[in-house]
Amino acid sequence: MSSLEKKELAPSLLAADFAYLMKDIEAVSGSCKYLHLDIMDGHYVPNISIGVPIVASIRKHTDMIFDTHLMILNPGDYIKDFADAGSDYITFHIECTTNAVSLISEIRALGKKAGVAIHPDTPIEAIFPYLEKGAADLILVMCVRPGFGGQSFIRGSLSRIATCRERLDKNGSDAILSVDGGINTSTIVAASEAGADLFVTGSAVFGKENKAEAAETLFKALGQ
Ligand code: DX5
Ligand code: ZN
Repeated sequence: MSSLEKKELAPSLLAADFAYLMKDIEAVSGSCKYLHLDIMDGHYVPNISIGVPIVASIRKHTDMIFDTHLMILNPGDYIKDFADAGSDYITFHIECTTNAVSLISEIRALGKKAGVAIHPDTPIEAIFPYLEKGAADLILVMCVRPGFGGQSFIRGSLSRIATCRERLDKNGSDAILSVDGGINTSTIVAASEAGADLFVTGSAVFGKENKAEAAETLFKALGQ
């Protein structure tokens, strides 16, 4: 059973208006507990987004739980910086390290929750060690190739989510099972049925004119 009491949304700041970040954040902070922060380095993914100063700046103005998604090479070099900037969850890609176990320990030693993300092209077996009880606090199944918002959900992700759910439950892990990429009012239902409990939503929330209403519609699709 996941540590979440109910299914939650994590609106992804990548789709917000960067000139009015707090305006967009305040539009969703009443209904959403988590804020997903996509960090891209132009190397692991072919795009550059935000970095430590933006995370530290918005930290001063909101109590939302910061779900930081590092899409960067050498994630270990930046864990302390993102922890100090106020991240609550720090998630790195298993493709970007040869020592995930020590990165998880390092994140936890800084008093933060540790997440492990998997790219859609990586065989799902690679995440199995982190589905053991106590191994990680969050598992992030990417449902698009990381790097850009607004892509279509890869249908094959559903069986990957279901595999993770089954193993987490079997192992008695309470890690959050998060899904990222292409989540909208229809894919959220299928991803939820497959067992996800945290839904990263970029275009489906911050990409909409009325962000609060968009979040409400997604909660309704989840039956909440
Ligand atoms: C993509 C990022 C996602 C992105 C999702 O590489 O990790 O978090 O913001 O955007 P949508 O919801 O538009 O697919
Ligand atoms: Zn993300």
